[in-house]
Amino acid sequence: MDAFVIEGGAPLKGTLRVNGSKNAALPLMAAALLTDAPVTLRGVPRLADIANMRRLLHELGCDEDHDDEGDVRLHVTDASGSHARYDIVRTMRASVCVLGPMLAKRGSARVSMPGGCAIGERPVDLHLRGMEALGARVTLSSGDILVEAPGGRLEGARGFLGGAFGPTVLGTANVMSAATLAEGTTVIESAACEPEIVDVAKLLTSMGARIEGAGTPRITVHGVDELKGADHRVLADRIEAGTYLIAAGMCEGDLELSNCPMDALLALDDHLQRAGVSVEVLDDTDPLRATVHATRGERIEPVTVTTHPHPGFPTDLQAQMMAMLTLANGNSVITERIFPERFLHVAELSRMGARLFRQGPTVVVSGVDGLVGAPVMASDLRASAGLVLAGMAASGTTTIRRVYHLDRGYERMERTLESVGAKITRVKEQDLPMMG
Ligand code: EPZ
Repeated sequence: MDAFVIEGGAPLKGTLRVNGSKNAALPLMAAALLTDAPVTLRGVPRLADIANMRRLLHELGCDEDHDDEGDVRLHVTDASGSHARYDIVRTMRASVCVLGPMLAKRGSARVSMPGGCAIGERPVDLHLRGMEALGARVTLSSGDILVEAPGGRLEGARGFLGGAFGPTVLGTANVMSAATLAEGTTVIESAACEPEIVDVAKLLTSMGARIEGAGTPRITVHGVDELKGADHRVLADRIEAGTYLIAAGMCEGDLELSNCPMDALLALDDHLQRAGVSVEVLDDTDPLRATVHATRGERIEPVTVTTHPHPGFPTDLQAQMMAMLTLANGNSVITERIFPERFLHVAELSRMGARLFRQGPTVVVSGVDGLVGAPVMASDLRASAGLVLAGMAASGTTTIRRVYHLDRGYERMERTLESVGAKITRVKEQDLPMMG
């Protein structure tokens, strides 16, 4: 397994280009199952999760080829196998987003029930309620979800898709995708408003689907008989962009980001401004592919952060924001409303000298003058990103084990950060000195 070795204290200066969004690309790739025609996706990030999705789609009869620029061409040539097996789904629970497209196009699907993960239980009850609302028969058998459309076609319906923690992003993608081929009209109430949902709706519409209201809490889909192929550029990754904007705030940064979806990051921008990090827009001809310049003032100011569904502060930037606020000039309060257990980074940041006090879904962050490098352990994708930022801002050396978590959502992050001055190298864990 790989690890990072980071020598802290290097200021970040230079230009970075934001990659395509992992959380858009996964449901976009699944949408290829809705048609017999080829679907081309451009600017797909080169990530472990994307490779897993390619493997899953191949098993589901979808041929795939890709080039070095991140263009992926998907074409279903064999619709006979419809079983998303456990050994793929357990490594990437987002595999569940093939459920809706497969059910709608093939009339049935079998998807292993995704397990939980480091950030929480991760249920799929809302996905299944959505499929049932569309007329599907849903049963569970030896760890697999079996769904079947009686008579082979789903029926449009009006349904509420909200859960105790608000809307479901992939649940909305699943139901919206399935509804495109249903008989009649579907209304999804309490739909997720995330930019990734808008991107999936854009692809589906270019394939011939009839969708209104994507990006709002009510999405209406008028079913059609079939969908055609399409050619679609993947939305830029707002979480990768947000991670690097926060890095600029932590590491005396002077960073220019291109292909930055600034229009999808207004909540982060608001919090960064209050924390003393300025993000100047240099070009927003396309506000979802803007060029921006991020710098930090004298000190980081404390702020209160509560995560919410979009357009609120994204849960996927909570760990990174916490890392920055450990250095603030006072006490910050962070509350996690989406995944209340999403705090595996707290113990690791504390090992680096952060002063963090957790009470349930809330952490008080008492700012310190500086962090101290230490051996730490990555646990989930975004917690690991927070540790990288902390290591770059700390004094001394930080080693981060199990960086495979990071590779799921960031394309060779160490090279990206090294290109703007960070002192970070990827090594084999066995080459690290024994952990104290
Ligand atoms: C997506 O996961 C993202 N993943 C997550 O990003 C992100 O944290 C999450 O949305 C919230 O924004 C992808 O898009 C691949 P949810 P998703 O269904 O769709 C509860 C990352 O780091 N819930 O919106 O699986 C759930 O437990 C990843 O890139 C139910 O109760 O998340 C949570 O509390 C991590 N029942 C809340 O809803 C359900 O059936 C939101 O989850 C589904 C979800």
